Amino acid sequence: MKLPTDPAVARALVALTPPTESLLGMVASFRDAMAGGLAGRPSSLRMLPTFVDQPRGDERGAAAVADWGGTHGRVSLVELGGRGRSRVLAEDVFVFSGEDKSGPASRVFDVIASAVERVVGDEAGEDSGGPLPLGFAYSFPARLERIDRAFALPLTKGWSLAGLEGEDVAGLLEAALRRRGLGRVRVSAVANDTVAALALASYRARGRDAAARPAEVGLIVGTGTNQAADLPGHGIRNLESGNFDGVGDVTTAWDAALDRELADPPPGAQRFEKMVAGRYLGEILRRIVEDLGRSTSLFRWPASALGAPFGLDSAQLSTMAGDRSDARSGADAVLRGLGIASTRAERRALGDLARGVARRAARLIAAGLLGTLTFIDRDLASGHTIAVDGSLYGGYPGFDRLVRDGFRELAGAERARRLRLAYVKDSTGAGAAVIAAVAATSARPRPPSG
Ligand code: GLC
Repeated sequence: MKLPTDPAVARALVALTPPTESLLGMVASFRDAMAGGLAGRPSSLRMLPTFVDQPRGDERGAAAVADWGGTHGRVSLVELGGRGRSRVLAEDVFVFSGEDKSGPASRVFDVIASAVERVVGDEAGEDSGGPLPLGFAYSFPARLERIDRAFALPLTKGWSLAGLEGEDVAGLLEAALRRRGLGRVRVSAVANDTVAALALASYRARGRDAAARPAEVGLIVGTGTNQAADLPGHGIRNLESGNFDGVGDVTTAWDAALDRELADPPPGAQRFEKMVAGRYLGEILRRIVEDLGRSTSLFRWPASALGAPFGLDSAQLSTMAGDRSDARSGADAVLRGLGIASTRAERRALGDLARGVARRAARLIAAGLLGTLTFIDRDLASGHTIAVDGSLYGGYPGFDRLVRDGFRELAGAERARRLRLAYVKDSTGAGAAVIAAVAATSARPRPPSG
């Protein structure tokens, strides 16, 4: 590896590279926080019950799915063919506006309900037959009381809606559906995206081989980050691991300032997520660059260019990190798009920093996963499958390799070999359909097993 010539850049990279011991400490405190959350002690890991059972792989039938967890929403009609197969029959993707993100909750549910109408309207009128089940992928923290009743906890990822907290999101969606005359659609299951990824990976594996071990962890690394895990004796839990706060040893001044200055999520909340997820990585890099622009001869760009919070996103970070061309022309294009004329030395330094920010995120992800996996199996004596999805995981070049490197660093090569990261792209819709189907079968008595 060629070391950056500028000492301030080199120092920043060191700050972004916490020692192995700190990460091992994080693994242990993550495990402790899981135990605390499960025991009902105050803990940054909520370990929320999901009321979802592992699928058997033979689930069949059609279900509508509504997916809300970020800027893009999606409604689809999904058909499960058994044997681990699924097919999207119809789909509508839509974008929430800036106002939607901070307005009254009812507006968001109306946006979703109108997409449901576009996708299943013809078959969902009041008098067109029996109920049509809908799986609601709600990718924010929620306290479930049963599979189809989920009370909203404070929102994450920059959302803040009036009239949502404490309300049942299934009930709010059904009310919006009724407002559009879609009374036949019944919200039969509410599930987090991490749970959907886990369920889909298990459905596929068991559809091919009924005796296959299910996925035990579902991980999202996208705009936000979170894990779900199937824990012996506790069932599948939504950890809301983005809120893990045992990050003191690995926090830099840039992370601390970002946490302090952001209103949503408020200071102290979503500490892990703020260092790892797509919503924040570009902003961390922007803060580093702004800082170095004051203290070095690099990045002396006009104050306006990269001056605004969130002026750099993780897609741009990914482009700059992956650009190894001699002139760093990809990075040049990104910067020109922001109105910045840069030197090649600056673009090289920016690439090094972008890779430093992303590599740290991947090492922290590895540490969080090892927290969960060693909670399940202290010595990692067995094999384990982690189902993974999310825009950063899929979009950053080589992110999976970086997480695997983290496993090797923290658990050793032999144990790391037993851990499988299964990428389940676009898992949320199909996974929520699987969950709706499992909920429908477990509402009926199941055939005796064994
Ligand atoms: C945020 C949400 C969580 C979700 C994750 C990934 O952390 O709080 O529920 O699973 O983002 O989308």
